Amino acid sequence: MTHDLADDRAAVRAFFGERAARWDTRFPDDGPAFAAAVEETALRPGDTVLDAGCGTGRALPELRAAVGPDGTVLGADLTPAMLDEAVRAGRHRTAALLLADVSRLPLRDRCLDAVFGAGLISHLPGPDSGLRELARVVRPKGRLALFHPVGRAALAARQGRQITPDDIRAEPRLRTLLAATGWRLLSYVDRDDRYLALAEREAE
Ligand SMILES: C[S@@+](CC[C@H](N)C(=O)[O-])C[C@H]1O[C@@H](n2cnc3c(N)ncnc32)[C@H](O)[C@@H]1O
Repeated sequence: MTHDLADDRAAVRAFFGERAARWDTRFPDDGPAFAAAVEETALRPGDTVLDAGCGTGRALPELRAAVGPDGTVLGADLTPAMLDEAVRAGRHRTAALLLADVSRLPLRDRCLDAVFGAGLISHLPGPDSGLRELARVVRPKGRLALFHPVGRAALAARQGRQITPDDIRAEPRLRTLLAATGWRLLSYVDRDDRYLALAEREAE
C-alpha cells in the first residue's frame, strides 16, 4: 500500500484544527519552560530563526526577544486554524507566519541560523524527510532545538500511555535519525519538567 502524504497532512490539520481555539488555555504555565529552551538555543541578535510547527506561536515572542529588532523570526505551520489563533493573539506582529509544511519549505538553502521545533517531531508524518528539509534550510553549524515543555514520561502519563524505546524522541533513536539527516546531537535532556534536544547542522 502506498503511503499517502496528503492524507497524513489532512489528519494533522484535522487533529490540530479541532484543538486550536483551546490550545493556549490548556497549558497556561508553559511560558517559563519555553523561555528557558529559547535561551539554551543560544540565538544571537540579528539571527534568522524558524519556529517549525509554530502552532499558535507560543515561542514567537521569546524568539523575537532573542534575535532582537534586527533579526528575523518565521513561524511555519500546516494547520490554518493554529495560525489564525497566532494572529488573534497578536503574534504576527513578532514574526512572519507561513502556512507551510516543514517537510517542503518555501525557503532557500542555508538561509536560517536556527530552527526551534516545539512538540513537532512526533507529529511529522515523515520525520526523516522533515529533519532533512530543516537541515537544507539551516546554515552549517546552525542550530536545531527540539523541545517539549514536559518530558516523554510525563507526556505519556498525561496521554494515558507508556513510553517505548522505539519512540522517535528516545535518545538512541533520535541521535541516529539526526545523524542520518545532516545533524549532530549536542545535548539531550528528558526530565519531567522539560524535553530538549539540541543539535548542530553538520558542515558539508
Ligand atoms: C503539538 S503542536 C505544537 C505547537 C506549538 N509549537 C506549541 O508548542 O505550542 C504541533 C504543531 O505542529 C504542526 N505540524 C505538524 N506537522 C507539521 C508539518 N509537517 N509542517 C508544519 N507544521 C506541522 C501542527 O499543525 C501543530 O500546530
